[in-house]
Amino acid sequence: MSVLITGIGELTTNTGAALTDAALVIDGERIAWVGSAAGAPDADERVDVEGRAVLPGWVDSHTHLVFAGDRTAEFTARMAGQAYSAGGIATTVEATRAASDDVLAAGLRKHVDEAVAQGTTCIETKTGYGLTVEDERRSAIVAASLADEVTFLGAHLVPPGWDADDYVALVCGDMLDALAPHVRWADVFCETGAFDEGQSRAVLTAAASRGLGLRVHGNQLGEGPGVRLAVELGAASVDHCTYLSESDVDALAGSGTVATLLPATDLSTRQALPPARRLLDAGATVALASNCNPGSSYTSSMAFCVATAVLQMRMSVEEAVAAATLGGAKALRRDDVGVVREGARADLHVLDAPSATHLAYRPGVPLTWAVWRRGTRVTRA
Ligand code: NIG
Repeated sequence: MSVLITGIGELTTNTGAALTDAALVIDGERIAWVGSAAGAPDADERVDVEGRAVLPGWVDSHTHLVFAGDRTAEFTARMAGQAYSAGGIATTVEATRAASDDVLAAGLRKHVDEAVAQGTTCIETKTGYGLTVEDERRSAIVAASLADEVTFLGAHLVPPGWDADDYVALVCGDMLDALAPHVRWADVFCETGAFDEGQSRAVLTAAASRGLGLRVHGNQLGEGPGVRLAVELGAASVDHCTYLSESDVDALAGSGTVATLLPATDLSTRQALPPARRLLDAGATVALASNCNPGSSYTSSMAFCVATAVLQMRMSVEEAVAAATLGGAKALRRDDVGVVREGARADLHVLDAPSATHLAYRPGVPLTWAVWRRGTRVTRA
């Protein structure tokens, strides 16, 4: 089944191609052709988007969607002045351990559907609310049933009642053995209140020795060793990057590690926003992601992250849209998503607006008009 899309008001390809009067053809799960409408080939079906903007679907490279329970009370307390701390994760761990696989899968389905309906077409999610071998393993299996990319985050928090070094030994041994077949990535929360540099290094080194790609949660609540460690160990991405020293920025700029910024988190935890301008001006690769999770960032809206990045972090619309599409793809080391080119996955986001600028010009307005994910037009259930 092929579909010819015409009437594109503005096409963002992320390939450098500048097209006027653009059209494209989807064939099966892939983009088969991109060019000027005048030269478009025939297709089984035609869709005229009547001057609307077309972008690659959002690539949300950082979420925590395998969870149960509710943390509204923690959010309310935070809005009344309480600081966010890593310890809140334990509330979700308790609820997640008590939930059946079916309940976890239904929650994941709800949040993935919610994200896709807003233009997200490639989504990463993590374990990290189980923190026993069995609860992490079943979290990974649930995650793999719906997410494009799955990350093992057994090193999210030292579970209550555990000695930190004993827990790190469990993560590096039995937990990684049980999880490695189900995940592509391993991550560690390298932060005060979670895992220190030595513990984080042990987890990442053990994961790399089993062939997993590395990601790091770092520099979320203050400056620390997360960025340095991520760069040293060749992690694909270091996520948060809210508090960066000059040497952190330099290290990222000279590396293949993507700086993934999660601005909805910093708003929801009432922190400063990440220094996007410093990173971009230094030459670092930047991604934007939602960090959708029940504690620090309960939004699946990539459009909200893009609008925040433009309005408050001094990114241009082009930089923010690229960071939320191509940047996310780079953070996941994928070249088949986050771009509109022949052979790429047919993941498209059509806005009910003539240009991507409207994402920041009309913040908070639901602009998604149509979404194709792997070549299938998706409508909300
Ligand atoms: O990315 N930083 C660690 N993990 C999540 C928060 C998880 C939670 O509070 O439940 C984050 O912000």
